[in-house]
Amino acid sequence: MYNTRKVTENIHYVGASDRRLERFENLFTLPNGVSYNSYVILDDKTAVLDTVDYAVTERFIENVLFTLNGRDLDYIVVNHMEPDHCRGIVELWTKFPNLKIVGNKKTFQMLEQFFDVDLTKNYLEVKENDEISLGKHTLKFICAPMVHWPEVMMTYEKSQGILFSADAFGTFGALNGNIFYNEVDFLNLYLDEARRYYTNIVGKYGAQVQNVLKKAEGLDIKMICPLHGPIWNENIPFIMDLYQKWSTYTPEKQGVVIFYGSMYGNTENISYILASKLADKGVKDIRMFDVSKTNTSFMIADAFKYSNLVFACVSYNSGLYMPMETLLNDMKALNLQNRKVSLIGNGTWAISSNKIMKEIIDSMKNMEILGDIIDIKSSLKEENQNSIDNLVEKIYNSL
Ligand code: FEO
Repeated sequence: MYNTRKVTENIHYVGASDRRLERFENLFTLPNGVSYNSYVILDDKTAVLDTVDYAVTERFIENVLFTLNGRDLDYIVVNHMEPDHCRGIVELWTKFPNLKIVGNKKTFQMLEQFFDVDLTKNYLEVKENDEISLGKHTLKFICAPMVHWPEVMMTYEKSQGILFSADAFGTFGALNGNIFYNEVDFLNLYLDEARRYYTNIVGKYGAQVQNVLKKAEGLDIKMICPLHGPIWNENIPFIMDLYQKWSTYTPEKQGVVIFYGSMYGNTENISYILASKLADKGVKDIRMFDVSKTNTSFMIADAFKYSNLVFACVSYNSGLYMPMETLLNDMKALNLQNRKVSLIGNGTWAISSNKIMKEIIDSMKNMEILGDIIDIKSSLKEENQNSIDNLVEKIYNSL
């Protein structure tokens, strides 16, 4: 049975949410699910803007057919060809074989890579700033390469100032009937997930996000309709400001995140002692993660959020404990930069963790090693307390 909502008088939400998916991209855990947003515009011509993931395609098709109410479908605009948004294209084409599929050259290359159906007769290729009139609504296409894939574009509806932004400005988290920013408690329910979504999905492409933000400055944007999460019908400067910070790798807050990799609790103990000493100094924003336990995506989000990062980790097989190596390499892959970093290594024999952690940190941009690098043999002893106190002092003074 269909389940739609109106975005404006003639623009309808036809997407759906999935709370059953364990991991987005089979990587990032989804405690609150995810939504796949899609929109229908009814005018002299009709258009669908992006489709949805396979998991909710049945609901999506019902929603589109209900919204069209017997009318033909003239256009599918494909802003993004990643399968979480394109699985409904062929299904819609089977029902509306004359529709035009609107995309750019790369869109169609990817479409042919994913699907075995010849849709070439239906292609309508567009370029930057091309426009399509649906009647009262006019769609203008804005290229947004690498936000998040090379083919990505955004569609700006000129008559109402609505930006259909593809992945940008989206968030993890299913929708709960409320689809608009001003219908949800965004700060409590979605902000952390918006950060986790951005940093893990698009975090690597800060320069490309900057390019899109510059293009957005030239548009009169009254509403943003992303492909995941609530529609921005208010407070657009708030999310623009966050995107400005995230895409320039600027910390949102002065604070300390301690990431520890510990096998028998000794490195964990050092981490808690460090945290307590920071708290004694009055530091309020302290976050701690056991790298073995936490899905990397949550740690990445806080690494983007805070100014100071501490990595405390054991050596392993003359190398680095694997979950910590994964985390650091992920931070590097996502281009994280401009952070103050402190290192604590531990080991009983062949102590190697600090060497490898430092090599990875040194290969990243604008990462400042703060304080002395501390080597611990097996467990913290009274004579090591000074080195921890000195590090606390350095971190405290840098905040
Ligand atoms: Fe939501 Fe890049 O796909």
